[in-house]
Amino acid sequence: MANAPREQWSSRTGFVLAAVGSAVGLGNMWRFSYLTAEHGGAAFVILYLGVTLLVGLPVLLAELTVGRGSQRSPIAALRHYGGRAWTPLGVVFVAAGFLILAYYGVIAGWTLRYGMMAIFGGYAGAADHFEEIAQGPDAFAFHLVFMAITIGIVAGGVKAGIERTATLLMPLLFLMVAGLAVHAALLPGAEEGYAYYLDTDFSGFFSREVLTQAAGQAFFSLSLGMGAMMTYASYLGRDQNLPTGSVVIAGADVAIAFLAGLVVFPMIFALGLSAKVGSSTVGALFITLPEAFAGMGGVGRVVGLIFFAMLAVGALTSAISLLEVVVSAAIDSLGWGRRRAALLAGGAITLLGAPAAWSLGALDVMDQVANNIFLLGGGLVLSLFVGWRMQDPVGEAGAGAEGVRWFFLWRALLRFVVPAVLLYVLIDAVPGTLRAVLALITA
Ligand code: PHE
Repeated sequence: MANAPREQWSSRTGFVLAAVGSAVGLGNMWRFSYLTAEHGGAAFVILYLGVTLLVGLPVLLAELTVGRGSQRSPIAALRHYGGRAWTPLGVVFVAAGFLILAYYGVIAGWTLRYGMMAIFGGYAGAADHFEEIAQGPDAFAFHLVFMAITIGIVAGGVKAGIERTATLLMPLLFLMVAGLAVHAALLPGAEEGYAYYLDTDFSGFFSREVLTQAAGQAFFSLSLGMGAMMTYASYLGRDQNLPTGSVVIAGADVAIAFLAGLVVFPMIFALGLSAKVGSSTVGALFITLPEAFAGMGGVGRVVGLIFFAMLAVGALTSAISLLEVVVSAAIDSLGWGRRRAALLAGGAITLLGAPAAWSLGALDVMDQVANNIFLLGGGLVLSLFVGWRMQDPVGEAGAGAEGVRWFFLWRALLRFVVPAVLLYVLIDAVPGTLRAVLALITA
């Protein structure tokens, strides 16, 4: 056990920006837009909002409560409140960090590559080369560069590395999204994009499949179910208001996802590329948008540069939180120094990204396993833990939050609603995901 005093955020704003930085990332832009396109536009958005409010928000507050209350990284935190029997859950969290960051770094590498295209050569023809750009040694090289940056920042520590990066980059990211949304609104033909995004097709609304996707997206986008928010909250003092923090974090995350939709859909539709939206896959954003940028001429290169820079920034602050889960566990449980932990864990994760860098199919399956099994499963067990096992979670959540009156509602959601919803989707999602894994292996 390390004897050095545990690092703390330098301010409440620093924590909130770091947590928003974790939440806002490729999930808000890449994943949110292709899922929305695939599942009927606004109907999916409404469902996603509902799940975020009733399932995501309670789990977020639960993670913050366990993290701040214990002042420990997830494995030690769960042992602190639940005893030895609960350490495996913490280990699963760390494993999820490994798995997610491995393919997340690959996609982040694509964003670096596409950002550079704006400077070297432009976007003409890029759409036809997605499969070559996204797979192979070059994809791995960009993943490596991205991981090196992530490792460097996490090695710098909570304040000097993570907090400083978030404080610098999050306002910039917000300006970029807002600026791009304004630009998109001024494109002739933008209305069709809005119509597609905001018109509702309720046909798939009540399917378990769409609910699963919405729940997976809510967890992924809010960085829930694997201890990332728990880890960040462990660097927080007891005088901080957690309920308000959780509402601010979730609100900012949803707002940026929504704004990203206001960027992506008008741009695609203004250039008449809607036919491609229907055939959306993990590659949608990286196929249709470069084509849109190519169609805008010289302006397209500037817009493309800003767009992919925004994606890269979002990805970076999220990747940092994924690595921090693993690093903080190595520091607390193995007694390693921070720099050593960042380098070794980050290096191992980079190698684990190789299959995702060489095969889109593998990347897609890793994403499904991460969401449908690790995050939703982790969220289920965690809600049961805080709802039923932990002593006095309300007292812990309430420290620094005098006057908050909805704790009884929080507890009821955690005890009944969250587990019921997650169980309902998991029953279907787990076998489906395992089939996808098998199909990949036997292919
Ligand atoms: N929330 C991040 C995003 O939307 C991804 C993430 C998931 C980060 C889980 C940390 C933990 O891109």
